[in-house]
Amino acid sequence: MRDISNNPIGVFDSGIGGLTVVRELMQILPGENIVYFGDTARVPYGTKSEKTIREFSIQNTKFLLSQNVKAIVIACNTSSAIALNDIQSIANLPVIGVIEPGAVASVGTTKNKRIAVIGTTATISSKAYEKKIKSLEQTIEVYSKACPLFVPIVEEGWFNHKIAYLAAEEYLTELKRYSIDTLVLGCTHYPLLKDTIQKVMGDKVKLIDSGVETARVVKKVLEENDLLNQSDLRPYYKFFVSDLPQQFKKIGEMFLGREIENLIKIDL
Ligand code: DGL
Repeated sequence: MRDISNNPIGVFDSGIGGLTVVRELMQILPGENIVYFGDTARVPYGTKSEKTIREFSIQNTKFLLSQNVKAIVIACNTSSAIALNDIQSIANLPVIGVIEPGAVASVGTTKNKRIAVIGTTATISSKAYEKKIKSLEQTIEVYSKACPLFVPIVEEGWFNHKIAYLAAEEYLTELKRYSIDTLVLGCTHYPLLKDTIQKVMGDKVKLIDSGVETARVVKKVLEENDLLNQSDLRPYYKFFVSDLPQQFKKIGEMFLGREIENLIKIDL
């Protein structure tokens, strides 16, 4: 079989949020080439129907396949929740979504068996996290809450802003009543609100960042499939988007934690 281990890892998201996952991938797999696609023209996915989310996710996957990727990471929680099976059926490569890694980590973390999950409206309605957690450990109580305002707040760059705090109080106070000890941040944008969310939930609640957990799983999957990049060349990063909003570079760099070079707008 042809050796594709030097090919890039393909990552897609509905927009820029998936750069939080890329940031973790760059940390855990510093030798890997990465091609990112952010569907900035059609973001957000979290408020759309399952049918539309499926269609968009399949188009994004086809684009990544055209870039000769060796594995696909669905950084978007909404796409992972709804379209994972569809994507697996068209890609003859390892496909890693963010739901399972986040769910596994939450089950390994909770002591009192009470977990909450927050995400977009589509992710929460799909019950994907809840089902996965329950399949791992039936006796765990799972509480879910859609927090749709968090995405635009993060895109404004208001991570530690009073508006973020007020929204977090409004959404999360209900979850505090259930005495959960673990909270899954089931959306690409929420890791940027970690401090605010922790402040509202209190120190005793452990926050699970699905992006971090996913990057660990990607490393494991590449190792198991003999797909780690063995080349000594400096890795390259390419960022493709379907629209170039004014703020993209600035906010994107906050998500990524470094400068974005190689930014290309494409039509799908
Ligand atoms: N990337 C999405 C997610 O993780 C959040 C933004 C959107 O709604 O498209 O669910």
